[in-house]
Amino acid sequence: METPDKLHVLILGSGGREHALLKACLRSARVASVKVAPGNGGMALEAECLACNISRPSEVLELVRKLSIDLVLVGPEVPLAAGVVDVLEDAGVLAYGPRAAGAQLEASKVFTKNFLVRHKIPTADAASFTSVAPAMEYLAQRPFPAVLKASGLAAGKGVVIAQNLNEAEIALREMLEAKIFGTSGDEVLIEEFMQGEEASIMLMVCREQYLMLPPSQDHKRVGEGDTGPNTGGMGAYSPTGVVTSEIETRIRKEIIEPTLRGLISDGIDYRGTLYVGIMVTDLGPRVVEFNVRFGDPECQVLMPSMETDPVEIMESIARGTFRAADVRLRPGATLIVVLAAHGYPAAVRIGDAIELPSQLPEGVDILHGGTQRQPNGALVTSGGRVLGIVAHGATLAEAAQKAYTVAPLVRFAGCHYRRDIGARQLRRDGVA
Ligand code: AMP
Ligand code: GLY
Repeated sequence: METPDKLHVLILGSGGREHALLKACLRSARVASVKVAPGNGGMALEAECLACNISRPSEVLELVRKLSIDLVLVGPEVPLAAGVVDVLEDAGVLAYGPRAAGAQLEASKVFTKNFLVRHKIPTADAASFTSVAPAMEYLAQRPFPAVLKASGLAAGKGVVIAQNLNEAEIALREMLEAKIFGTSGDEVLIEEFMQGEEASIMLMVCREQYLMLPPSQDHKRVGEGDTGPNTGGMGAYSPTGVVTSEIETRIRKEIIEPTLRGLISDGIDYRGTLYVGIMVTDLGPRVVEFNVRFGDPECQVLMPSMETDPVEIMESIARGTFRAADVRLRPGATLIVVLAAHGYPAAVRIGDAIELPSQLPEGVDILHGGTQRQPNGALVTSGGRVLGIVAHGATLAEAAQKAYTVAPLVRFAGCHYRRDIGARQLRRDGVA
């Protein structure tokens, strides 16, 4: 069979996830060249970064044509929901990520809840509301805590766990009346609170075929011991023992297979990453949410864990020719500690000068998220999750030890990070 020429790749996005995708491209034998739009201060040292409003599919197509790109890897959800893959594919350009119809699994929590119920996939009971009074009547009959979710995209911040009617009313008024999430809060889902431990399951999907990457665990709260407000994710590690082989079998049978069958029967051609947020409860695994892209920071621990070239898999999924096969994984464990900016996850201060260590120990890498280079080359903070320290070790304890040796060597004013990334697994392993 003819082997296609090597690929000129464009990555869309500017976070740590996209930096991990860039590193995967730089390692890949399939890639002739790689560029990024818009990128960040770390990626700029490794690839050409181009200005582009990636949420506008027509702008992305224009850039792709100008640069003669063969394959586009879409990092974040907003361009996917805006239909960037539809526009690229319809113009004959290969793109990794679902089309807008599939991206609704992340862009509309009401759509997803209806999908899960229709296809009998285990999840929290829920009802949706567009005004406060009927929502309060419903809540008066329900146990607390209750989970309130803005239906649309809210950068991971649209979920409130209300402990009582008073807290619920405040959150409902903010979403439905004060519109703190804009139109994303026009509809609010009220869900049963599921007790258990969460895991992130990243699937690379090509219609009914899929590859399950090793389960990982995110740390969503800003503070140690899972305290304080939710963030985009303060750290992650993989693999995680919360997904035992018995739970994994149930996830495949009770969640993944009916989901992929459901997408096909609903007429959705799903090709791309499907991130299944799972709560492992006493009743078994249940869906917390779907995302239609790699997790950030989960992607940063999964890409370096793969010996099989992820770019080859993404290419074959974009072509629609992927056949599930075993992925070769590196033995050991990978962990990331996210270093966040002053104020994160609330109002973030930007422009703080960053100092990086000049040398890193074997098996440690620093990935950039919210960083920017100034015209004189100085590196400054430009977003909430500034840098991620990724460490690989024979064991999770070794990976954690390496990451936490490097963390204090990175300096910027206001830097904060959690010191307990991976702690649950270390306790399971009996080493903490
Ligand atoms: P989501 O954006 O739907 O992933 O929600 C963000 C976070 O809120 C999740 O990662 C969970 O930690 C928590 N959460 C969401 N839904 C539920 C639920 N029904 N029960 C318990 N926790 C939840
Ligand atoms: N780490 C959670 C997310 O990417 O949504």
